[in-house]
Amino acid sequence: MDTSGATGLWLVGARGSVATTAAVGALGIGHGLAGRTGLVTERPDVAGAPLPRVEDLVVGGHDISTTTLSKRAEALAEGGVLPPALVRALGPDLEEVDRRIRQVSEHPHGPQAARAGRIAADLRDFARRERCDRVVVVNVSSTESPLPSHPAHEDLSALESALRQDEPVLGRSSLYAYAAFRAGCAYVDFTPGAGARLPALRELAEREGVPWAGSDGKTGETLLKSVLAPMFAARGLKVRSWAGTNLLGGGDGATLADPGPQRSKARSKSRTVQETLGYPVEGPLHIDYVPNLGDWKTAWDHISFEGFLGVGMTLQFTWQGCDSALAAPLVLDLARLVAAAHAAGYSGPLPALAFFFKDPVDCTEHGLAAQYELLVRWAAGLPGRRT
Ligand SMILES: NC(=O)c1ccc[n+]([C@@H]2O[C@H](COP(=O)([O-])OP(=O)(O)OC[C@H]3O[C@@H](n4cnc5c(N)ncnc54)[C@H](O)[C@@H]3O)[C@@H](O)[C@H]2O)c1
Repeated sequence: MDTSGATGLWLVGARGSVATTAAVGALGIGHGLAGRTGLVTERPDVAGAPLPRVEDLVVGGHDISTTTLSKRAEALAEGGVLPPALVRALGPDLEEVDRRIRQVSEHPHGPQAARAGRIAADLRDFARRERCDRVVVVNVSSTESPLPSHPAHEDLSALESALRQDEPVLGRSSLYAYAAFRAGCAYVDFTPGAGARLPALRELAEREGVPWAGSDGKTGETLLKSVLAPMFAARGLKVRSWAGTNLLGGGDGATLADPGPQRSKARSKSRTVQETLGYPVEGPLHIDYVPNLGDWKTAWDHISFEGFLGVGMTLQFTWQGCDSALAAPLVLDLARLVAAAHAAGYSGPLPALAFFFKDPVDCTEHGLAAQYELLVRWAAGLPGRRT
């Protein structure tokens, strides 16, 4: 690859809310029109690491949607997610990014090997045209239904022959991970999909020498759980039940109204409390779609716990967050960190990035403070630290 210092950020679901907010944020920062609040990689503990600059990220991607990025950004501005003046000022830049988004079919036909080949060709073409040192593919597309397991997931050569058959064997997130690795790109799964977690894909990432991270961005209810569960544990308080109700609008809310994607999300959200406390905790977890809420999500959690001499007590919290404003800076952080890992020669999963995820790969530490320490230590160890 030709080198110019640019880092490609290829977004799967490039015209969705999270992707559009990330693109607007990166462009706004690049032009000095937007601040850096919410970017973990700008914190003094991490900022000294040799990361590509936000202004050096070049955004492209895939989407099935025909709504342009500018139109999507205008709709988000109308909904109060993006500042309207910023969206107006970035008009030509958003059109330029939109020209780098390739539209793909929602229901592609034929063997998945051919489809993966086209995705990998798009990635190589993007890297060449934009003169990127490297490309990080980040999946921010609609949540998929859980993938049925298949014997070919266990072994790379079995997978490669299965991909040549007409019957699909990989879910979207895993097909993108496969194509990214084949094109020599790093991969991040911001969704609860299986992504690169299949043994065959782990093998491919190691073979190609590319790093990957996942899964499912931690931005709301689970973020709070990862702060509160360690508190109950450290104080020796026994949690009797932890029930959560999540109300979501927006595209993600609409997708999660479907029981398949909802199962994926609920599974990914369930690890934190149990693995932190070390015992099973009862409590239903609801995700409901309320279109009127738009990009704002509400989580209401009810936690019943037991203290000294068996005294029962309750904690309740209500979290009202703007989904895309919480998620977009993490997408930029992950692009910078995973590109730096790739440059430093890392391959395979990056458990040190657990801080960003509800369902962190190869990491059973869910406490936010401990995960932050892990991240800071890892970033400090990247070769070529800035002074
Ligand atoms: N916002 C958050 O706080 C948050 C946190 C964790 C995870 N996530 C995940 O991020 C993802 C995106 O969330 P969002 O709010 O931007 O959703 P969204 O519905 O606004 O955007 C999803 C985009 O994916 C596109 N898409 C659907 N199928 C596709 C395909 N086959 N190929 C390419 N693109 C496709 C859609 O057209 C849409 O533009 C979801 O999976 C969500 O679960 C979001």
